[in-house]
Amino acid sequence: MKQKLSVLGIMCFILFLGTFNWTGCTAKKAATETPNESTSPERPPTPPFITALKESIKGKEKLPAEEVFQNIKTMKGVPAGRLIAIMQFGYSRSLGVQCTHCHVRGNWASDTNPNKEIAREMSLMTKKINAELLKNIKNLKSDQPVVNCTTCHRGQVKPALNIE
Ligand code: HEC
Ligand code: HEC
Repeated sequence: MKQKLSVLGIMCFILFLGTFNWTGCTAKKAATETPNESTSPERPPTPPFITALKESIKGKEKLPAEEVFQNIKTMKGVPAGRLIAIMQFGYSRSLGVQCTHCHVRGNWASDTNPNKEIAREMSLMTKKINAELLKNIKNLKSDQPVVNCTTCHRGQVKPALNIE
């Protein structure tokens, strides 16, 4: 129970970071009880397939992703539970897409959808920007400046080039 509460706490914290909306916590809880297919970017409800996915890794959330899932290449060492949160609140939200933009429906491990491999290379590119390029720019305001998917994508598949 304690563990469940702390997991809920973390999810609410992620929601808070994403939306700056404290009521997101109660909305999230209600959404878990009554799953619904809608994909409002404001308060993403938990669709049944996410609930099923989380159920399928129950008790293994803290194990490295490669020990829990079948086809992990770039996210080795990431706790399995966190991988799901990254998929939901990182990858999907930052590009403004559904899981099926990168995944074949019903087979998370499949690499048939080319966007999945693109996403892997995007992840490597992002890591390289952070670890090698950004880190070496002097006199930046942040001690540890970082970019992530949202920095470029901002909710869109194709990043903008100009302010219109
Ligand atoms: C922008 C592309 C993208 C989106 C959108 C995306 N994923 Fe992923 N997903 C990936 C990539 C890339 C991997 C493989 C990571 C690796 O190789 O370490 C992955 C791996 C996974 C895995 C592990 C599968 C296995 O057995 O190896 C699961 C489960 C998963 N995603 C679920 C989801 C869910 C649920 C969503 C929607 C909420 C989602 N993904 C949205 C790109 C995406
Ligand atoms: C430095 C900017 C930048 C960052 C950071 C970045 N991307 Fe991209 N991404 C792009 C650009 C540019 C394109 C190409 C868009 C086009 O086709 O013109 C792209 C395209 C994609 C595509 C193909 C989408 C499609 O349907 O055509 C996927 C998937 C993707 N990015 C995922 C990610 C993920 C996941 C992350 C974070 C791990 C990420 N990107 C981080 C700039 C970025």
